Amino acid sequence: MRMILLGAPGAGKGTQAKLICEKYKIPHLSTGDIFRMNISTKTPLGVEAKKYIDKGQLVPDALTIQVVKDRLIEADCKNGFLLDGFPRTVFQAEELSKFLESINTELDVVLLIDVPKEFIIERNIGRRICSSCGVSYHVKFHPPKELGTCDFCGGRLIQRNDDNEETVKERLNVYTNQTHPLIDYYKTNHSLSIVDGRDTILSVSKNIFTVLDS
Ligand code: AP5
Ligand code: MG
Ligand code: ZN
Repeated sequence: MRMILLGAPGAGKGTQAKLICEKYKIPHLSTGDIFRMNISTKTPLGVEAKKYIDKGQLVPDALTIQVVKDRLIEADCKNGFLLDGFPRTVFQAEELSKFLESINTELDVVLLIDVPKEFIIERNIGRRICSSCGVSYHVKFHPPKELGTCDFCGGRLIQRNDDNEETVKERLNVYTNQTHPLIDYYKTNHSLSIVDGRDTILSVSKNIFTVLDS
């Protein structure tokens, strides 16, 4: 299965991506996670991306598109992948479409996790992520078994640099202006499945699996 997960910041893309990728045995390609890994190891890509991410702005298209193309040609993507956080602009979507065509591949599913704006601030501010494996937790909605420690790998939980109220508001503006137009883009150029993201994590994943299995 080759799929894209769309959704506002904090909609639950990363959380659901982990469950989907486990079930369907496909790699999880999150541009945000790739950038954060490069930031933590201070690669040239990380140094450049950090300038934008810390302000809640998009990393320039040229840089981001290359990162995704490089990842999509790796062997583990041959039989499927899940893109989380990419594309984020109509230009990125067009470039992705051209690239997939050039390698004789098509998308199977584009799925939007739909969450209204009023949920976004609390979801992002309360998020904690594992500094080792990147998995998301939430202080209220999805706490780890042991405070400050990742259930999966024992890594230390930290707060993302861009999860403060001011930056979340900017990320939401960027989403509205630059990413939300993708909803119409995919309604026109593909087909778009929509799942209500307001429910609990498990209810949302149940509804996603129903869509994916149909
Ligand atoms: P990225 O890391 O992709 O951030 P984002 O899109 O803002 O999305 P988030 O990761 O914040 O949210 P999510 O939907 O994954 O939610 P999560 O599952 O964690 O990108 C970061 C930055 O990188 C961007 O701002 C940009 O600068 C740059 N970037 C990335 N891709 C780019 C691109 N293509 N082009 C240009 N720049 C790019 O859940 C959030 C919280 O809610 C968690 O605490 C979770 O536990 C909780 N939660 C999840 N589901 C539920 C639920 N159903 N009920 C209650 N709580 C829930
Ligand atoms: Mg995420
Ligand atoms: Zn971990």
